[in-house]
Amino acid sequence: MTKDPAPGETLLRVRGLQKHFPIRKGLLQRQVAAVKAVDGLDFEVRAGETLGVVGESGCGKSTMGRLITRLLEPTAGSVEFQGKDITHLNVRGMRPLRRDVQMIFQDPYSSLNPRHTIGTIVGAPFKLQGVKPEGGVKAEVQRLLSVVGLNPEHYNRYPHEFSGGQRQRIGIARALALNPKLVVADEPVSALDVSIQAQVVNLLDDLQSELGLTYVIIAHDLSVVRHVSDRIAVMYLGKIVELADRQALYTQPMHPYTKALLSAVPIPDPRRRNTKSERILLTGDVPSPMSPPSGCRFHTRCWKATKICTTQEPPLLQLGPGQQVACHHPENAEDQAPQDTELLRAAVDAISVVTVGGGPVEEEPAGAASADPVSADSVSKDSVSGDRGSRDAESGAPVSEAPVSGDAASVDSPSEDPGTGSRPGTDK
Ligand SMILES: Nc1ncnc2c1ncn2[C@@H]1O[C@H](COP(=O)(O)OP(=O)(O)OP(=O)(O)O)[C@@H](O)[C@H]1O
Ligand code: SF4
Ligand SMILES: [Mg+2]
Repeated sequence: MTKDPAPGETLLRVRGLQKHFPIRKGLLQRQVAAVKAVDGLDFEVRAGETLGVVGESGCGKSTMGRLITRLLEPTAGSVEFQGKDITHLNVRGMRPLRRDVQMIFQDPYSSLNPRHTIGTIVGAPFKLQGVKPEGGVKAEVQRLLSVVGLNPEHYNRYPHEFSGGQRQRIGIARALALNPKLVVADEPVSALDVSIQAQVVNLLDDLQSELGLTYVIIAHDLSVVRHVSDRIAVMYLGKIVELADRQALYTQPMHPYTKALLSAVPIPDPRRRNTKSERILLTGDVPSPMSPPSGCRFHTRCWKATKICTTQEPPLLQLGPGQQVACHHPENAEDQAPQDTELLRAAVDAISVVTVGGGPVEEEPAGAASADPVSADSVSKDSVSGDRGSRDAESGAPVSEAPVSGDAASVDSPSEDPGTGSRPGTDK
């Protein structure tokens, strides 16, 4: 028997976690390539905390969630829960652990069996684990339904009779049935209407205080995890690029990718609604996880990329109190490669900067805004500020028809005061 960790102690430890999905072809089904969905993650989840995990679609968030709940077998690396290595436990070995580790799935529409009543769905974990709750399964399921804000009388109804938000509450009730220690919630609100996203996030928050749960909450939007996370991990193409305490991440992001994601988050402070801010729009597509870029995977879209970024992968280093970052030229911190100051040509084209705001803005509930700077449709070359021509790449040649700034200092995002963005030796 393992001892329960006290609040703040490590509950889950992940080392070098990888999941490569093989691509097979031909009659012999030979492996011709692999999707490197998760490609070397190192992090801990502390008892009682909420770890938010954010990143664009396809960066490996769900795969990570399924790996740490052992719904998927990792290609490499290790997962420890309460000090016990669970990386290769088989179904039988995992059975006792299933009570402690639960998952809430991304899509409340497809994750509930339409042929089962919600009583059967929420009561299934008791049956699977052979647990007989005091007072019987029905009474316990009805209690769980009222805990998540549903009418216990609806025990015999079917999933299609419920709205999206209610279905997600059913998924939460099912996850809580066996009184788990760790709940991994995979985009718990992304399929819901904006108006009810905040309700479900608040429900998760309340349940955590009442039941002493530990959460890993996955989202593609920094605004969803903002109010509920203690720490946040930012993922890009199967890697964690920044892992920081909430306060540090939102006020002093160090990784350029975090800074770009943050610039797309609406300003929640009504006193600053009239403030103009600049949105960083990353240009270009996210590279394929089958053949991620060499060196730093973000270098094809990073406005600060230099030569070293194309050849050397930056390690995840502790660069500030409670803040780990994988970047050669971080924001708000000492440059890790100060000898390499020449911007790459691709870096010059990596972003557009769009000025937004300046007028009254309606306050939006958590998760209301698109946090995907790539998909933002407000790109306007006229509104872009900066002087790209003055900071050309390796060639040093001036660049014409410049819609954007290649000068990292000009892509500052004042909405959250994330620092100067300057690069030693490259600024004028
Ligand atoms: N079973 C699978 N076989 C092959 N490739 C897969 C499999 N599952 C996921 N992938 C690929 O792995 C990558 C990461 O997928 P994953 O679902 O983990 O991303 P995600 O960050 O959760 O994205 P989203 O925000 O869209 O949910 C994607 O390129 C996806 O196509
Ligand atoms: S500056 Fe270099 S290492 Fe840092 S995120 Fe950009 S490309 Fe990656
Ligand atoms: Mg996903």
